Amino acid sequence: MDNLQELSDTEVDEKILKLKNEFKEDLFIPVHHYQRDEIVQFADYTGDSLELSRVSAKTEAKFIVFCGVYFMAEIARVLADERKYVFIPNRGAGCPLADFAFPEDIENVWNILNRLHPHEYIPVTYANSHAAVKAFCGRNEGLICTSSNVAKIFKYILEGGKRVFFMPDKNLGINTASSLGMGNDLCVVDGYSHENLNEKKDSRLVIWNGFCIVHRVFTPDHVKYWRKKDSGFKIIVHPECEPEVVEASDYSGSTSRIKKMIEGSPAGSKWVIGTEYNLVNRLSLQNKDKVIEPLDKSVCANMSKNRRRDLLSTLLAVQRGDYTGQVLLSREVIRDAKKAIERMLDLS
Ligand code: 13P
Ligand code: SF4
Repeated sequence: MDNLQELSDTEVDEKILKLKNEFKEDLFIPVHHYQRDEIVQFADYTGDSLELSRVSAKTEAKFIVFCGVYFMAEIARVLADERKYVFIPNRGAGCPLADFAFPEDIENVWNILNRLHPHEYIPVTYANSHAAVKAFCGRNEGLICTSSNVAKIFKYILEGGKRVFFMPDKNLGINTASSLGMGNDLCVVDGYSHENLNEKKDSRLVIWNGFCIVHRVFTPDHVKYWRKKDSGFKIIVHPECEPEVVEASDYSGSTSRIKKMIEGSPAGSKWVIGTEYNLVNRLSLQNKDKVIEPLDKSVCANMSKNRRRDLLSTLLAVQRGDYTGQVLLSREVIRDAKKAIERMLDLS
């Protein structure tokens, strides 16, 4: 076998293409918008978290090589039937936001909530969470959401007369609450500090205190800077940004919404985008008839861990029949997490 480090980038790319052609429909490569261009060029599908969940559930391919972060590959593992194999090029590509919430801490707060308002809270986890957290939601009549359907899911629960226990992204939770006019009806908790519940024990929204380090970089001062520089810029940000940043911007939305808004805008439009830099840079290269600037350059170091050599090495292992690197979950976690994910897919 070649030493992959000794191959040039072009040679690596040629080998990946050759393998893709050999696997044909046995291989499916879903790619998140935040991946590096060197990975995006091999995508069978690019999308946001919701779209990637949908295509992973539908694919007939025997091998899914998911290019994103680990929780995304886990969703594919949960949804794909058990005869399929799911891989991620670099198993070290985690999500620090997901690491804010572990089932033991969540169960702790869940027990308190159930003492305060028995059977009234529905647990909702953002897709950016560990499979065990999704399984907790599935076991407790809850579901998952992504940035593109979170408002719809909150509304569905609240209009049904229930309360929402949302984890792990505080910003997405607060931004969604504000969009529903519920900014004062919430309480922020985490595994260490749930005393807030003493004062706000009737909150209809209880929100976990996690955040995305990549989106936390953006501040209201960045928005002010671009507004001052040129009032012709429209500013669009991801809802994982701090509430003050979302409030100061013109629009917010999932990665696919951002992409669609830019692509659908007339030539000459000027945009400032507050999300991960790989996507912003690609949009700017692909929309030369528009002016596109990053709110600030913020890269997701985890998304960027998947490199072309990791992809090649994964494909070579699959070709040899070596599946030791596959993404695995216990039967129980798959069973329970699947309930939570399928409830979301049915609703959106
Ligand atoms: P999207 O669902 O908008 O693609 O977001 C995923 C993500 O990880 C954002 O940080
Ligand atoms: Fe996680 Fe933030 Fe990276 Fe998205 S951008 S994968 S939420 S760390």
